[in-house]
Amino acid sequence: MSNVLITGASSGIGYDMAEIFAEKKYDLVLVSRSLAKLEKIKGKLEKEHGVKVLCFSADLSVENSAEKVLYFTEKNNIDIDILVNNAGVGLYGEHIELNNDEVSKMLRLNIVSLTALSNYYGKKMKEKGSGKILNVASMAAYQPTPYFAAYGASKSFVLNFSEGLAKELEDYNVTVTCLSPGPTDTAFFSAMDEKGSGTSHFDPGSRAASKKVAEIGVNALFKNKLSVMVGGLNKLRAFSARFAPRKMVAAISKKIMKGHAAGN
Ligand SMILES: NC(=O)c1ccc[n+]([C@@H]2O[C@H](COP(=O)([O-])OP(=O)(O)OC[C@H]3O[C@@H](n4cnc5c(N)ncnc54)[C@H](OP(=O)(O)O)[C@@H]3O)[C@@H](O)[C@H]2O)c1
Repeated sequence: MSNVLITGASSGIGYDMAEIFAEKKYDLVLVSRSLAKLEKIKGKLEKEHGVKVLCFSADLSVENSAEKVLYFTEKNNIDIDILVNNAGVGLYGEHIELNNDEVSKMLRLNIVSLTALSNYYGKKMKEKGSGKILNVASMAAYQPTPYFAAYGASKSFVLNFSEGLAKELEDYNVTVTCLSPGPTDTAFFSAMDEKGSGTSHFDPGSRAASKKVAEIGVNALFKNKLSVMVGGLNKLRAFSARFAPRKMVAAISKKIMKGHAAGN
């Protein structure tokens, strides 16, 4: 039996990926802050799919939390065959109005922990001569995103880091795939609202189904793809942004992002 470690598995895309891997009979290590939610998911997946699920509560926005995840899997003698770095949050609003501590936590979660986990488990996969990593970025990675500036930039990091790492690890039979969802129907938006970002008008009607996005990511992982985007219109936008002048792209992005805010 092979083992998959998924961060941010307590809801949304991470939860749906956990279900997909369980259907494929992978044993799972589920990580997020909420142990109660993870334990409930463990019960469901073990019962429905006969797989073994371990849960670990970690706040990946805290320094050295990735090390704690590594220690947990080592202590339990679990060899991770597939790492899914999915946990992430967004902060919406004018950057100068955001709370700096919240921004730092977001960057530690979206960037620092993902990078450290890729390092730890990537090294083990290299030694073993096989393994797979799936990192979740966003369509926000493909252009500057005013009012989502730090979040978008964190996802640009994930995209570029993943593609760079993929080329390093391909020599060791280890693949790295980057999934870039567009707006997806998960708790992502309500989590932002809890922090007072006022994103309730982020066009709920046009969000993709989380299960579909998870399937696209897992399929791309097994096809050893470097990168995958979700949605035809999103792909067109990302493609156009590569050829348009940067100042034009930033200006259009500002219009779109400002329009998403409540009351605009
Ligand atoms: N939804 C979208 O429109 C969208 C679009 C593009 C990209 N994405 C990306 O997709 C990924 C998954 O998000 P989602 O849409 O599925 O949102 P979600 O339903 O809110 O899930 C986020 C997951 O991350 C975990 N998490 C949050 N903060 C954490 C922390 N400090 N430490 C550990 N785990 C933490 C949450 O669990 P706990 O609360 O239990 O910790 C939850 O399991 C994120 O990287 C996000 O940036 C989402």
